[in-house]
Amino acid sequence: MEFDNDHCIKMNDGNKIPAVGFGTYSPDAVQKSKCEEATKVAIEVGFRHIDGAFVYGTEEEVGRAIHEKIADGTVKREDIFYTGKLGSTFHRPELVRNCLEQSLKKLKFDYLDLFIIHIPVSLKPGPDLSPMDENGKLIFDIVDLRQTWEAMEACKDAGLVKSIGVSNFNIRQLEMILNKPGLKYKPVLNQVECHPYLNQGKLLAFCKSKDILLEAYSVLGSQRDKMWIDQSTPVLLEDPVLGAIARKYNQSPALVALRYQLQRGIVVLFKSFTRKRIEENLQVFDFQLSEEDMKTIDGMNKNGPYGHLKP
Ligand SMILES: NC(=O)c1ccc[n+]([C@@H]2O[C@H](COP(=O)([O-])OP(=O)(O)OC[C@H]3O[C@@H](n4cnc5c(N)ncnc54)[C@H](OP(=O)(O)O)[C@@H]3O)[C@@H](O)[C@H]2O)c1
Repeated sequence: MEFDNDHCIKMNDGNKIPAVGFGTYSPDAVQKSKCEEATKVAIEVGFRHIDGAFVYGTEEEVGRAIHEKIADGTVKREDIFYTGKLGSTFHRPELVRNCLEQSLKKLKFDYLDLFIIHIPVSLKPGPDLSPMDENGKLIFDIVDLRQTWEAMEACKDAGLVKSIGVSNFNIRQLEMILNKPGLKYKPVLNQVECHPYLNQGKLLAFCKSKDILLEAYSVLGSQRDKMWIDQSTPVLLEDPVLGAIARKYNQSPALVALRYQLQRGIVVLFKSFTRKRIEENLQVFDFQLSEEDMKTIDGMNKNGPYGHLKP
């Protein structure tokens, strides 16, 4: 992957994205103030790419953290790359801008750097972000995502977002957008679960062939939230193969997991609410894995997602 001096990568619309982003999803049990504090730390230590979402419920806190770092002179708004996500209850084209405007209001921003469709599954519109029927089953909505995409394009044309993309899309769903008659803008990226146990090789090759970046989440094996993850699944950062490679480079397994993705041309996200780890993760640019070790990590693939429809 070609990085410039700021470790940014050019997207297919000409805008640049920092290759490593700081994730702001935190389980309900975690106090939101932790997310605010950690976002400030991430900016203080040098991260400029922040990944958020309407449904995370932390955009007010994240916005406050960014504005504090602008006010104290650490950064300007234009130094920050903020990603927001369209909630699944807002897929109907007439609701897309409404979701975006609610995020902008919470963040106190005039624009988002990137706005992506969070999940290619539409849910019944309304105040409830997880609408359920009396049997506790999600209530879906039927929406043509090509129309949702046109509404995303309109948000870009209105200057409310600089770039638009998707998340959790498979090849078929990407093709549906790419083959849409009258497509104005291609998605700049597809944000998906991606780590050595699920290395997304096919999807990566497809995205590269279409000049769409892949952006990886749960790169460190996810937060293992009990709500989404079977606790018996293996813990990625305790994997002996990753551990052996980490020792060889005198780095942590987390850094090896992050570096692996960068060398495959993937934009990576990580979440940490621990200052020491946030600082540590910045060292991902300071070493290089050999071809042989990259292949060894490729061999860890189990094609296994940690969970379905994770936030
Ligand atoms: N589009 C989607 O559907 C979707 C889905 C999931 C996630 N995401 C995005 O991706 C972001 C990250 O993914 P994720 O939340 O699944 O978590 P992750 O990045 O895989 O992180 C998992 C855990 O690793 C720990 N960690 C971080 N740095 C470490 C280090 N150097 N050494 C050891 N442990 C370390 C963190 O714990 P501590 O906090 O205790 O340090 C964190 O809880 C999210 O916050 C969100 O922004 C998007």
